[in-house]
Amino acid sequence: MHPSQDNLLVLGIETSCDETAVAIVDQKRTILAHNVLSQVDDHAEYGGVVPEIAARQHISSLDHLIRKTLSDADTTIDELGAIAATTGPGLVGGLMVGVMTAKAIAAASRKPFVAVNHLEGHALTARLVEEIAFPYLLLLMSGGHCQLLATYGVGQYERLGSTIDDAAGEAFDKTAKLLGLPYPGGPAVERAAAEGNPDRFDLPTPMLGRPDCDFSFSGLKTAVRRTAEACVEAKGALYPDDRADICAGFQQAMGRCITDRLANAIQMFREQVGTQEVPLVVAGGVAANKYLRSEIEAVATANNMTFHAPPLSLCTDNGAMIAWAGLERFALDPTINDKDISPRPRWPLDQKAAPKVGSGRKGAKA
Ligand code: KG4
Ligand code: ZN
Repeated sequence: MHPSQDNLLVLGIETSCDETAVAIVDQKRTILAHNVLSQVDDHAEYGGVVPEIAARQHISSLDHLIRKTLSDADTTIDELGAIAATTGPGLVGGLMVGVMTAKAIAAASRKPFVAVNHLEGHALTARLVEEIAFPYLLLLMSGGHCQLLATYGVGQYERLGSTIDDAAGEAFDKTAKLLGLPYPGGPAVERAAAEGNPDRFDLPTPMLGRPDCDFSFSGLKTAVRRTAEACVEAKGALYPDDRADICAGFQQAMGRCITDRLANAIQMFREQVGTQEVPLVVAGGVAANKYLRSEIEAVATANNMTFHAPPLSLCTDNGAMIAWAGLERFALDPTINDKDISPRPRWPLDQKAAPKVGSGRKGAKA
C-alpha cells in the first residue's frame, strides 16, 4: 500500500474447489466488483467435483475473470494495495492455478501477495457485510467443512467442534445423489423437502446428547439410503412424494443435530467470554438453507446471541471473502508478503487442534 493511499483496495482470487471467483473489495467494506464462474455444469454428470476438470477450468477462466473484475471495478492493478488468493485448504490443482496467478501479478506489479486460508475467508465474511466485533462464535457449514470455531481475532481461532466424517454440505450432496436429485444437492434437497412430511420416516440424529460439539452425518446418509431402498422395494420405484418425505426428514434430522451441537458449543464459548450478548455467525454454502437458518437463529436468540448470516452470494465460495480476509490481514501488517508460501491442501484454522478425520479431501477441508 502507498502510505498516502487512504482507501486500500485488495483483489481476491478463489480457486480451491469448483468456483473460479475474483473480487475487489476496499477498506470501507465496499465490494467494487465480484465475479463467480460456477463449474457446476462441468461436474454435474459425475455427481461431485472432479479435481482435474476443476483445475483445467480454473486455468481457462481465471485470466479473463481477473480482467473483467478490474474493468467492472473501474480500476487497474496499479491501484491495488495487495493481491490475495486462497492458498489452502482445498484441491491442490486449483489452488496452484490461483496462487501462481496471484503471485505473478504481485511480482510484476511489485505488490504484496497475501496467502489466505479459505476457512478464514468464510470466518471473516460477516465482518465484510457489517461491523461485527470479536469475539464471536462461528458455525461454518459447507461442502467440505463443518466446524464450530471460537473466533477471537484475525488469525486467532479455537476449534470447539468439527465433523468426524462427512461435512454438512457433503451430507446434502450425497443424499441428493442417492435420491436421484441433481448436484449440488443442498438446494435440490431443500426444494424437495418443502413439499414433504418431515415426520413420516424415523431418521437417526447422530451424536445427539453427547457432551462435546462434534458432528457426524454418515449414519444419517446410510439411513437415507436404506429408507429409499425400502420405498423402491415396496412400490417398484422412488416416487416424488416419497422422495420429498425423505428430504424433509433428512433436513429435520440435520437441523436437530446441528442445533444440539451448537447448544454445546455456546456453553463452551460462554466459559471463555462470559454471559454478555455475543454474535453467532453462520457461514458456508449450507447456511443458505432457510430451514436450517431459522432453526439456528432460534437457538441464538434463546442464548442471548445476535444472529448474523451473510447474504447467499457471500455464503457460498466467492472472491470477495478472500479479498476481505487478505485485506484484514494486510491492514494488521502492511509489511506482509507471503510470496514464499505454497499451496496447502490441508490447512486447519486452529493449528493446535488435532485432525478429526484422516487424510484426503475430507481431512483437508474438515
Ligand atoms: O461454501 P460452499 O460454496 O463450498 C465449499 O467450500 O464447500 O458450499 C457448497 C455446499 C454444497 O455441498 C451445497 O450442496 C451446499 O453448500 N448448499 C446447501 C444449500 N445451498 C448450497 N445445503 C443445504 N441447503 C442449501 N440451500
Ligand atoms: Zn468454502
